[in-house]
Amino acid sequence: MKHETIETNAGWLIVLTLIVISVAGLVEILPLYFIDDTVEKVEVGGIETVRPYTPLELAGRDIYQREGCYLCHSQMIRPFRDEKLRYGHYSLAAESKYDHPFQWGSKRTGPDLARVGGKYSNEWHAQHLTNPRSVVKESIMPNYPWLAKTDLDYSDIADKMRALRHVGVPYSLSKQEFDNNVRRFGKDVAQQLEISSAEDNLIAQAEAKNYDGNRDNLSELDALVAYLQVLGTMVDFSKFDDGYFSKFR
Ligand code: HEC
Repeated sequence: MKHETIETNAGWLIVLTLIVISVAGLVEILPLYFIDDTVEKVEVGGIETVRPYTPLELAGRDIYQREGCYLCHSQMIRPFRDEKLRYGHYSLAAESKYDHPFQWGSKRTGPDLARVGGKYSNEWHAQHLTNPRSVVKESIMPNYPWLAKTDLDYSDIADKMRALRHVGVPYSLSKQEFDNNVRRFGKDVAQQLEISSAEDNLIAQAEAKNYDGNRDNLSELDALVAYLQVLGTMVDFSKFDDGYFSKFR
């Protein structure tokens, strides 16, 4: 059939357009019915190890987005040999299930950060973010000197958790939700997910770990480093058999 025949005949155009939209719609909609089987089950000893971010990590994630780090860094290791050799195990769907919005990205001016947690010390990150060229001479990453100097504004952290709760992230408000989290994630994590103690938890974590190496203030750098250090650390791959995760693909 000639293109002109379709373009000059409203009937054909409508029918064929509907067919194209239906096929495309099915491709997008059908997988949603299988999503529970596709998102990997990551449990060790009956406890889920992929958890929502703590309040401090969540604040750090917001700074990551505010500063546009995603414009140069992806957070998704693809299931190819070269990617696995460079960055580690390919990213699981489960690992970003609490991310709203997810930070997968595709632009890699810098390396993928999906498993950067634990790769460097807190001191390295603090130094690197303040002035990347002081640790990686040839780096083209911008300096972020204001992060260490700016106090973290965490006055709205509980509200942010409440908002995420609406889209299904299991931060807890009621006793029942808390108990449910204890069963799923264990007591320590469940306490971090309590919205009513968000600010106390945030301060306690920042003081205990002192991510930016400066005890005088709770800075934006504290939060950002806390976030970077948790990336990719929630799944201990040594605890799972080789073929376990491929079952979900
Ligand atoms: C203009 C692009 C660009 C932007 C924006 C950028 N980076 Fe980078 N980043 C790079 C490049 C290039 C490297 C590799 C050289 C280096 O280590 O500095 C890098 C490296 C890194 C590394 C080390 C990764 C590794 O595995 O060695 C981390 C961590 C990092 N960036 C975090 C961030 C954070 C956090 C932000 C936002 C505050 C950010 N980057 C913004 C380009 C960028």
